[in-house]
Amino acid sequence: MSTAISPTAYNYKVVRQFAIMTVVWGILGMGLGVFIASQLVWPELNFGLAWTSFGRLRPLHTNLVIFAFGGCALFATSYYVVQRTCQTRLISDSLAAFHFWGWQAVIIGAIVTLPMGLTTTKEYAELEWPLAILLAIVWIVYALVFFGTIVKRKTKHIYVGNWFYGAFIVVTAMLHIVNHASLPVSLFKSYSAYSGATDAMIQWWYGHNAVGFFLTTGFLGMMYYFVPKQAERPIYSYRLSIVHFWALITLYIWAGPHHLHYTALPDWAQSLGMAMSIILLAPSWGGMINGMMTLSGAWHKLRTDPILRFLVVSLAFYGMSTFEGPMMAIKTVNSLSHYTDWTIGHVHAGALGWVAMISIGAIYHMIPKLFGRAQMHSIALINTHFWLATIGTVLYIASMWVNGITQGLMWRAINDDGTLTYSFVEALQASHPGFIVRALGGAFFASGMLFMAYNVWRTVRASNPAEAEAAEQIAVVGAH
Ligand code: HEM
Ligand code: HEM
Repeated sequence: MSTAISPTAYNYKVVRQFAIMTVVWGILGMGLGVFIASQLVWPELNFGLAWTSFGRLRPLHTNLVIFAFGGCALFATSYYVVQRTCQTRLISDSLAAFHFWGWQAVIIGAIVTLPMGLTTTKEYAELEWPLAILLAIVWIVYALVFFGTIVKRKTKHIYVGNWFYGAFIVVTAMLHIVNHASLPVSLFKSYSAYSGATDAMIQWWYGHNAVGFFLTTGFLGMMYYFVPKQAERPIYSYRLSIVHFWALITLYIWAGPHHLHYTALPDWAQSLGMAMSIILLAPSWGGMINGMMTLSGAWHKLRTDPILRFLVVSLAFYGMSTFEGPMMAIKTVNSLSHYTDWTIGHVHAGALGWVAMISIGAIYHMIPKLFGRAQMHSIALINTHFWLATIGTVLYIASMWVNGITQGLMWRAINDDGTLTYSFVEALQASHPGFIVRALGGAFFASGMLFMAYNVWRTVRASNPAEAEAAEQIAVVGAH
């Protein structure tokens, strides 16, 4: 009986902390994205200093947006969802607090070490071994809190959103530990335990599944809770969600070799990666359709509810990027797209359109509930944010498509005598207008985050503990 649960049944403190830090890291990570995008337009912005150069700030951007912004959004929502759907408090408040502070420490470590040039050089796994070990410990604590809470649940059933969060937690731990196996030679230098093509394969097994399990499966957990909640409709098909889950996790793990087409990796492995990537379209779209169809009978809500718009448009971008990905995995297409801005456009269709948009929608949904308010301070500002984010994403990806295809075609153009038609610099000059449009699109997106920060600040400032307590009680009683 849900009414038997006391008003303070849930640990919302850690959810609030992670939710606020999602906004803070979002602004910093995306602000840095705009800065490095501007460096590609105006190289003078490298300032001639090693630690402000593109090469050092780029990995800081990816670490901040993926692990700081995306990570905090996943932790905030997973702790919120697991408590509400299991109708029980987190298994340990102190472990949850360790998770929060430990994670912030890893991020601060990244902010200090990456601009100094301390890096393993493995993409998305750049942090050197002391930080990688800290990250692994914090992650194991997260797993203990999450699964411990599932074990002590008061419901019979484990809601499907938790299955997705659970897979994200288990697989991320496995990927991180295997890919980080290395031999330290000093406090800040280590060498990978693998070599040659094996090292490359392990790295892209990690890299692709970081996309599959960190940037996709975790956010699908978010989707399965927040889309039905915000639309006030049950999920379209529970059966489809189960098929979706098993199909997605079984297939994703094989697709890594599509990052290594035409390399020293054995040809059969490349073809296997290509085939698995194409098959991956089916579960990806199954999930997208399940989310979209949840709006059946509630489509009219899109007219008045900008939070729902964020959630639905994120699904549209998810569908788009998971169609584009399998196409780019086809070897002949990849021979054109690889090394070009097309990849960067694909990344941000997923990162801005899907990952950031669904996180923003979920945070707007949670903030009033976490701080005891009926709704966000300003719905109009959420709407402004929605348009800035949507226009920003479209400008970003459209300019990168144009750039990517231009670069690919210019690089492969040859004259009758077999010499190259264009020099590299000519292709770079042709890319310049696209770089300007991308920086503009990024500035749109990042400025939307500033509106969000203001809106969140006003909502939090207006909250008072008594009201928060009362709202929490309502939330607990109404939880399902
Ligand atoms: C305002 C928003 C953003 C801007 C302006 C921006 C800009 C950039 C730029 C300029 C690069 C380097 C591209 C290159 O090397 O040619 C980059 C790379 C990257 N960004 Fe962003 N970014 C933004 C948001 C995000 C978000 C929210 C995420 C993830 C959730 C993300 C994930 C990545 C990744 C994974 C890469 C590396 C791509 C690759 O190696 O193929 N970005 N970004
Ligand atoms: C069915 C789903 C997907 C497939 C089959 C797929 C496939 C691909 C392919 C073929 C590449 C280019 C590899 C290369 O030429 O180096 C790529 C790059 C990438 N994709 Fe996807 N993609 C999918 C979905 C997504 C989603 C939803 C996201 C983001 C949330 C994403 C993020 C990335 C990133 C970050 C890279 C760049 C990796 C790097 O080189 O640094 N992908 N993907």
